[in-house]
Amino acid sequence: MRDVIEELEQKREEARLGGGPRRIEAQHRRGKLTARERIELLLDEGSFEEFDTFVTHRSTAFGMDKTRIPGDGVVTGWGTVNGRKIFVFAKDFTVFGGSLSEAHAEKVRKVQHLALKTRCPIVGLYDSGGARIQEGVASLAGYAEIFKQNVVASGVIPQISLIMGPCAGGDVYSPALTDFIFMVRDTSYMYVTGPDVVRTVTNEVVTHEELGGASVHTTRSSISDGAWDDDVEALTELRRFIDFLPANNRDGVPEWPSHDPGDRAEPSLDTLVPDNPFSPYDIKELIRKVVDEGDFFELGERFAGNIVTGFARIEGRSVGIVANQPMVLAGVLDSDASRKAARFVRFCDAFSVPIVTFVDVPGFLPGTAQEGGGLIKHGAKLLFAYSECTVPLVTVITRKAFGGAYDVMASKHIGGDVNYAWPSAQIAVMGAKGAAEILYRGREPEEIAEATRDYEERFMSPFVAAERGYIDEVIRPHNTRRRIARALALLRTKEVETPWRKHDNLPL
Ligand code: HXC
Repeated sequence: MRDVIEELEQKREEARLGGGPRRIEAQHRRGKLTARERIELLLDEGSFEEFDTFVTHRSTAFGMDKTRIPGDGVVTGWGTVNGRKIFVFAKDFTVFGGSLSEAHAEKVRKVQHLALKTRCPIVGLYDSGGARIQEGVASLAGYAEIFKQNVVASGVIPQISLIMGPCAGGDVYSPALTDFIFMVRDTSYMYVTGPDVVRTVTNEVVTHEELGGASVHTTRSSISDGAWDDDVEALTELRRFIDFLPANNRDGVPEWPSHDPGDRAEPSLDTLVPDNPFSPYDIKELIRKVVDEGDFFELGERFAGNIVTGFARIEGRSVGIVANQPMVLAGVLDSDASRKAARFVRFCDAFSVPIVTFVDVPGFLPGTAQEGGGLIKHGAKLLFAYSECTVPLVTVITRKAFGGAYDVMASKHIGGDVNYAWPSAQIAVMGAKGAAEILYRGREPEEIAEATRDYEERFMSPFVAAERGYIDEVIRPHNTRRRIARALALLRTKEVETPWRKHDNLPL
């Protein structure tokens, strides 16, 4: 027995070296950790259980029969993050560039299946050259089966992708089907076809970064929800992120000890909204002052900054936050903001994370660019997402809630459970000046000015909506945290029945 155990240890040692010291050194020189080093940082110390350590590829073409490396370019298994189970697979770039063979795909699918069966989140760490070129079609089949499993698990367990190196070809579509994608700045890039193919097909000369770096995907494409400076920061922050997520769609949000009293008053909020209705203020200040210990995990920070999305906690339990940001484009809703928030709202609803919405929105953004770009369809996504929610919805209108955007932003009419307004709220079809100019088109300026004042008096307060019960209560800003905490506690037992359907038909 002793000999066999020694042999096992020796084989394990070999496997842990992946593609060997030379390639590990090259990986480190590029500022990247190896797959196993990454897993160690992601999981609680000593909690990683590896599967399929000794799996190798089965191909023989192109001299592959002479190079079989245990693990075959991906390290898989499970462990814990702050005591909560998660599954993980990490592409090992030191082994055939982390490329995907038939055997490699089988390893990934095994942890995907186990994660679904045990209702645990799964995290993929990407660093790969795409399809294993020597294997051809077997590799395509492997990818497709992974994609299918991503879709089967969607809305059942959280799926998270962290891109930590190249992520090319077939490798991009599995992350694209997961709930969240994060990247590491400067060392990671994602694209369907790389710079060489781009140059051949379109004559365009681009770098990896210009084509698919974090600078592109956290801004223009919005494919990535965020990026960090290096592997260590990325994995540490990913642990923090996982702490916000439910394990699956049945267990509800995790509950952590909180040292921040739910009834904490925040007097500074009474002066947050400026007297001038056109002056901006930072909605993130409100968010940080209301949530537990000011801990807000923002998603999509560098894309559509006119809407803010992310996770926080109230009395130790996770909530999703959606908020118009008056600092960017006056908090207007445009196509990008609508899509960004809709996707986030749908995640929260699928996983029973209550949503707190802060509203200060002057309406939808007018113009040919927006209309031609499908504002109607994209705005409908957010309207649809909120309207189909069955999770608790708590809404606070801090200032403007104009027009269709008032309806969309978790209003009472589409399912808001508890809707509050600050005394500074203005709930109306549109701004007073615009309204008067339409009603009194062609009249003297004095008449328009008077009509503006009249409109302001009639509609520019929360009380018209409150008289009709569209607002449950007008609250003092310093009590916002207490009000939200009590509303969420009340709504913990919320139950809604929806009619049977196969699935809805969200406007895509
Ligand atoms: C097999 C691969 C590989 C691949 C890299 N390697 N990609 N082996 N299949 N796809 C190997 C290299 O031979 C090398 O082996 C090692 O990994 C490191 O690669 P380098 O090129 O030295 O690294 P680097 O200079 O950092 O470049 C990384 C790279 C480049 C940009 C990812 O390797 C690259 O362009 N690879 C090919 C990308 C690609 O076209 N993949 C196919 C996509 S098509 P040694 O032994 O020297 O260490 C696809 C279709 C699927 O995925 C679609 C499904 C929907």
